[in-house]
Parts: sequence; structure tokens; C-alpha cells
Amino acid sequence: MPAPHASPPAAQVRIDLGDRSYDILIGAGLLARPQSYEGLPQGGTAMIVTNTTVAPLYLQSLTGALQTRHARVLQVVLPDGESHKDWQTLQLIFDALLGSACDRKTVLYALGGGVIGDMTGFAAASYMRGVPFVQVPTTLLAQVDSSVGGKTAINHPLGKNMIGAFYQPLRVICDLDTLDTLPPRELSAGLAEVIKYGPIADMAFLDWIEANIDALVARDPAALAHAVQRSCEIKALVVGQDERESGLRAILNFGHTFGHAIEAGMGYGAWLHGEAVGCGMVMAARLSQALGRVDAAFVARLQALVQRAGLPSVAPVLDAQDNAGRWLSLMRVDKKAEAGEIRFVVIDPPGSAVMCPVPDATVARVIAESSVA
Ligand code: NAD
Ligand code: GLY
Repeated sequence: MPAPHASPPAAQVRIDLGDRSYDILIGAGLLARPQSYEGLPQGGTAMIVTNTTVAPLYLQSLTGALQTRHARVLQVVLPDGESHKDWQTLQLIFDALLGSACDRKTVLYALGGGVIGDMTGFAAASYMRGVPFVQVPTTLLAQVDSSVGGKTAINHPLGKNMIGAFYQPLRVICDLDTLDTLPPRELSAGLAEVIKYGPIADMAFLDWIEANIDALVARDPAALAHAVQRSCEIKALVVGQDERESGLRAILNFGHTFGHAIEAGMGYGAWLHGEAVGCGMVMAARLSQALGRVDAAFVARLQALVQRAGLPSVAPVLDAQDNAGRWLSLMRVDKKAEAGEIRFVVIDPPGSAVMCPVPDATVARVIAESSVA
């Protein structure tokens, strides 16, 4: 376990959803700090859901903190990886809950990245028709995006995150110290979702990311703290207005229609989610340019930033015979598609985004342009 930093002060961001409102706590050393859990349900059973990679790093610390509050602290350790975000692995959570006779007051704690958070949230939404849960995200991607806002899901071989529920956590506890042990590739993946917030909502934040990208890659604690806080603030504003994605929230999927096709098309886990989103954002920026919404300089700027974050920006070939056809068929399974028509998040103008259908021929051209370095 890494030693705590001399860290920037903790921050708190509120997700405003009426009686389902909750706080995101952001700071160093929060995992072991009793104050992080004040006000959450106590007594009874807590079950920590984590995986084989995160357990040796942080399970003991979270277990120790929860043992001061709960009569029973159970643990379930799942196999690691996007390829395990499926029914079979979800079933292991239900096996553990039922095997230990957990009642409907049991609190689930998701300790890990977005895969653990999404699966634990879905288990919490459906076990006994709903039990409380808390997100303890340990990847940058999970701290800036997936742990916030209540989207929970598992994958289906035919489509990413296709089976799930909207279900809000009671709290999100982002311990910045956990980012110390994150492999560099995973840190870069998280930076993709940080970068996303600039073009869709806040160009001043994009300016700040550009100025601080080297500090972020080098894990400067103050830079990471600001990136997590500002990302959560933007996400809180969007989710507070459109919890169930009837409109505005779709802008958070900038780059994701292309990105999800990469993940499914390459096989889950081959490209990290954040890598697929990084490349997908460059493709979506190019699409925005093809529709006349942004200029070439904006596309070049975003591509350069994605590359500096250590992310791929050249689209993979998904089918040697019919590349565009394969891309398009994968993207038709996207949750934003309506009556078989794919709808994309496009930037219009920089700093805001809209949804729109795009002719297949235009998308195919962008795929072809994006496939060359
Ligand atoms: P992940 O959960 O697979 O974690 C990445 C890797 O880092 C894993 O191997 C994990 O075990 C390891 N890890 C986690 N914390 C660590 C730490 N502190 N130190 C060392 N290793 C650590 O991937 P992710 O990028 O966190 O999340 C991606 C998932 O999130 C995808 O399934 C994606 O669909 C989902 N997602 C959901 C939302 C949402 O709104 N619910 C938003 C964005 C992404
Ligand atoms: N990550 C997209 C969303 O939460 O809506």
C-alpha cells in the first residue's frame, strides 16, 4: 500500500437528484478515514465487491474501515477484466449474497474500476429488487465518470453495456491515493474521459487539460485532484438535469458510439474502454467537421491532446473485407440508435454538443479517413 501524499485538500461534489441526491468525496487517504463513511447505513451486513487485482491493494483497508460500522463485512473477489463484465460473473455476486443469507438492508461496496462499479451497481439494483450501494472507485476513469450518475450494466457479446439499470449509489468515495498503483495504460484510459468534458461542456477546462497534460500523465497530485473534481462537477450538472438520458445526458457519450464499436469489434478487453473512447472522440470530431460544425484546427487540437495523453487516435480495421460495413453494423446496436438509425454526438460549437443522425456514406468516409495514421 503506498504512503499517503502530502495532498491537496479534499473536495466534495453534490449530485442533485431530489431524494436520491448524494455526495462525491474527493481526496487523498479517504479509504481508511472513518469520516468518509459518516451518515451511511451501519449495523447489519456490508459486502465488498472487488477483483483479484484490487483486492491485494485495498481490500484490507476498506474492510478495516467498515468493520468499525457493520456487524458483518463480507467480501467477494471477482475475476478481473472487461471480458468478465457478464452474466456469469454477475452471478458470483448473487451467489455470495444468497450464500451468506444477506437481507435487503445489506450495503454493497464497489471497490475497483468501472467494471466492478457497473457490475456491483447492477447487482445492487436487482438483488431483492434493490439494496443500497456505495462506489469506491480506484481508477481515474471510474473516479471521473463511471462511478457517478447511476448507470450500471453488463456487456452482451452483441453489444456493450446492453443489459443494466439506472441505479444511484448512496455516495462516491474517490481516494486519490489509489491512483498511485494504477498502470500507466489505465491512467491514460482515464484521461480520455477527462478530456471528453472539455469539448462537450467547458472549453476553459480543455485549455487547462492541454496546459497540464504532462503533469496529469506524471500523476501530479494537485493536477489529478483538479481533473477529478472538475470532471465530477460537469458530470453532476449534466446528470442533475437528465438522470435517465432522455436528452442532454447523451452528450457524455461523445466518442462512445465509435468507441463501443471498437470494443465489441476487437473483442472486449483488447482495447481498454478509455483507449476506444480516445480514438472514438477523434473520429467524432472528424464527423463534426464533416458536418460543418467544427473546423480542421479543432480536430487537430483534439487529436494532439489524445496522443499526448498516451491514447491511440488511429481507428483499427474491424473487417479486412468490409471495414465500413462492420463498423456500421456494430454501431447500429448502440443504445442511442433509433429504428436502426445511428445517432452521433457531434460538437457544435466547441464547448457544447448535440445529437444527430448522420448518413452512412458520411460515417464511412470518416472511418476511412480515421484508419490512416
Ligand atoms: P477496469 O474496471 O477494468 O479497471 C482497469 C484495470 O485497473 C483493471 O485491471 C483493474 O483491476 C485495475 N485497477 C483498478 N484500480 C486499480 C488500482 N488502484 N491500482 C492498480 N490497478 C487497478 O476499467 P475502468 O477503465 O476503470 O472502467 C471501464 C469500464 O467502465 C467499462 O466497462 C465501461 O463500460 C465502464 N464505464 C461506465 C460508465 C458509467 O457511467 N457507468 C462510464 C464510463 C465507463
Ligand atoms: N458515461 C456516460 C454517462 O454516464 O452517461
